[in-house]
Amino acid sequence: MTESTMPKLGIGTYRLKEDVGYQSVRMALEEGYRHIDTAQIYENEVVVGRAIKDSGLERDALFVTTKVWRDKLNKTDFIPSVKESLKKLQLDYVDLLLIHWPSPANGESMSEYLSALLAAKEQGLTKEIGVSNFTIAHLKEALSLLPEGSLFNNQIEVHPYLTNETLRAFCAENGIHVTGYMPFAVGKVLKDETILDIAEQHNVSAAEVVVAWEVAHGLVTIPSSTKRENIAANLKALELKLSAEEIKRIDSLNCGDRQATPDFAPEWDQ
Ligand SMILES: NC(=O)c1ccc[n+]([C@@H]2O[C@H](COP(=O)([O-])OP(=O)(O)OC[C@H]3O[C@@H](n4cnc5c(N)ncnc54)[C@H](OP(=O)(O)O)[C@@H]3O)[C@@H](O)[C@H]2O)c1
Repeated sequence: MTESTMPKLGIGTYRLKEDVGYQSVRMALEEGYRHIDTAQIYENEVVVGRAIKDSGLERDALFVTTKVWRDKLNKTDFIPSVKESLKKLQLDYVDLLLIHWPSPANGESMSEYLSALLAAKEQGLTKEIGVSNFTIAHLKEALSLLPEGSLFNNQIEVHPYLTNETLRAFCAENGIHVTGYMPFAVGKVLKDETILDIAEQHNVSAAEVVVAWEVAHGLVTIPSSTKRENIAANLKALELKLSAEEIKRIDSLNCGDRQATPDFAPEWDQ
């Protein structure tokens, strides 16, 4: 797959382990998803790999992302951990390899772990490289360390209650694709009056409105679901076109309500 074919919608897999994870990815691939988001820390790369294999789909029809966890951000463990991920996924390469958090467990420098990330690409273990949860300050440092044009993606939390506009604008100015994670704020925004009102106007679900809003902003998004009807609805949302006024109404819901706030999170952009 090339950059231009990174599907706008992927299936998220956080929290989905064992058979739940397997079934979710299987259903998503059956429904037509071609983009899967996993991570070493999700402890589901094995079942994701099995679901991909059992789907019978060609490798180059898929876009698979995984993320390197904080304890592997050192020059000794990084590449072996990626090879381990590939073994679990039963793949020769991933399409996108991300640094999961800009917070190495043992204080390694960005230069150390980005060199390892670049080496993974040079060794053919991934097609593209990127980061996740990076702030503007982190991105500036990363851009100064990596070859021009090689930083493909920043995966960050984006939903109607956390629109992250400043960071998104910085990414756009610097040619970095943005993937918006937790698009539903893990379900919270699906109860919002404004979103429900727009959903009613279009005769669709709140989830479809949110996916359409993310895509209208040029974002890739990766909702997770354990239910076939929700998995299918989220994909169908790609057909929904919101008006400029509806997009603005949703933008105005931003209230900085961040869901992912582990104690190792960086100082976020405002
Ligand atoms: N890079 C990072 O640090 C990071 C952090 C967090 C998440 N992520 C990625 O982002 C993905 C998405 O985040 P998330 O899974 O935490 O939260 P989310 O996608 O915002 O919300 C998932 C919740 O929404 C529900 N849902 C999904 N589709 C629905 C629909 N059509 N109608 C009603 N409810 C629906 C699901 O319930 P049902 O199962 O009942 O459908 C589930 O409870 C993760 O899976 C992971 O891949 C990345």
